[in-house]
Amino acid sequence: MGVMDANNYGNVHGGVIMRAVDEAAAVAAVRHSDGPAVTVFMDSMEFREPVKQGDLLTTYAQVNWTGTTSMEVGVRVTAQRLDVDGEIHVATAYLVFVAIDADGRPRPVPQSVPETDEDRRRAGEARIRRETRLHRREAIRELRESPST
Ligand SMILES: CC(C)(COP(=O)(O)OP(=O)(O)OC[C@H]1O[C@@H](n2cnc3c(N)ncnc32)[C@H](O)[C@@H]1OP(=O)(O)O)[C@@H](O)C(=O)NCCC(=O)NCCS
Repeated sequence: MGVMDANNYGNVHGGVIMRAVDEAAAVAAVRHSDGPAVTVFMDSMEFREPVKQGDLLTTYAQVNWTGTTSMEVGVRVTAQRLDVDGEIHVATAYLVFVAIDADGRPRPVPQSVPETDEDRRRAGEARIRRETRLHRREAIRELRESPST
């Protein structure tokens, strides 16, 4: 992380980390779906530790779950202080990508096949987050459409 990534106190802006997260997730989604994919939702971005100017930032992205045209991608962000051994876990985020065709319409994605217990845990948790997202979207839509509110 360079001087342009940080504020006057040497802390890296959250938006810089979010951009790195979005880019890493996009690579995972595009690779998995073998074509273009766009970010449709980003949630649960948790900043656990500050990132400092001079840190080496690393992103790890994995497709956790696939629907018909959408995918949930989990991203883990670590920082390495150049004078300290080991990586610090600084953030975790979950994003939903939709694979699109040449006209920008959703297209089907290959189903992800969990291979390890860790993969199965991530897929199970992703299903819960998907239900929560869709439920929240539906509840807000209903509230907006109800005449008395
Ligand atoms: C992504 C996009 C093509 C989806 O179009 P749409 O007409 O809403 O498509 P659908 O309603 O058929 O939904 C497609 C999938 O996305 C999921 N989805 C849509 N909105 C969602 C939301 N807010 N949260 C979670 N999932 C969502 C649907 O559940 C569906 O998943 P499934 O096929 O796996 O069941 C359209 O919303 C779009 O172009 N958005 C802009 C994307 C963008 O520009 N991103 C930033 C730059 S990359």
